[in-house]
Amino acid sequence: MNTFGRLLNLSSGSEEFQDVLNLDQHDFPKPWSMQDWGSLNWSHHQLFGIKKETELVGFALFAQIPGDDSAHLLKICLKSSLRGSPDTLVFWKALIEELKLKGVRSIYLEVASRNARAIGFYRKSGFQLLRIIKTYYSNGDDAHTMQLIL
Ligand SMILES: CC(C)(COP(=O)(O)OP(=O)(O)OC[C@H]1O[C@@H](n2cnc3c(N)ncnc32)[C@H](O)[C@@H]1OP(=O)(O)O)[C@@H](O)C(=O)NCCC(=O)NCCS
Repeated sequence: MNTFGRLLNLSSGSEEFQDVLNLDQHDFPKPWSMQDWGSLNWSHHQLFGIKKETELVGFALFAQIPGDDSAHLLKICLKSSLRGSPDTLVFWKALIEELKLKGVRSIYLEVASRNARAIGFYRKSGFQLLRIIKTYYSNGDDAHTMQLIL
């Protein structure tokens, strides 16, 4: 049975949490430190994972202030070997459905302006550019801020 597309609700206490950290370290352009991950507040942050067979192959981290219908996409990562495949859309659709069920009406994000692939993905998923923030990141990179109305 193909169960790909079923989201896992994760937190630092989940058995898959170490797999998330490993994926972040190996497949994310700017991985977070343990301190960054440790500073998450699990009443405001939602971490979703997706597995292929038994392997965790993607995760997405959102922040949502209780009572706010807007979610902040902090990180999304798919295993590099799956990028550009139909799996991306399956994962994304599952995330959108889950957020809608939670009452989310819009998603906003910042992404490094040099991350052309992610920006291409966000654009084709319907995100609009809000503005470009110069030297947003600590390494001096600019950021695109983008928004999707669901
Ligand atoms: C962001 C991510 C989940 C998107 O998944 P993906 O499978 O790569 O996305 P897709 O291939 O479906 O879409 C990317 C689009 O950008 C386009 N693209 C790729 N490289 C590009 C480039 N250099 N310039 C412009 N567009 C580009 C692709 O052609 C594609 O559009 P198409 O389907 O119309 O051809 C994935 O790339 C990822 O995990 N990246 C690493 C983590 C990351 O950077 N996350 C974003 C910051 S939080």
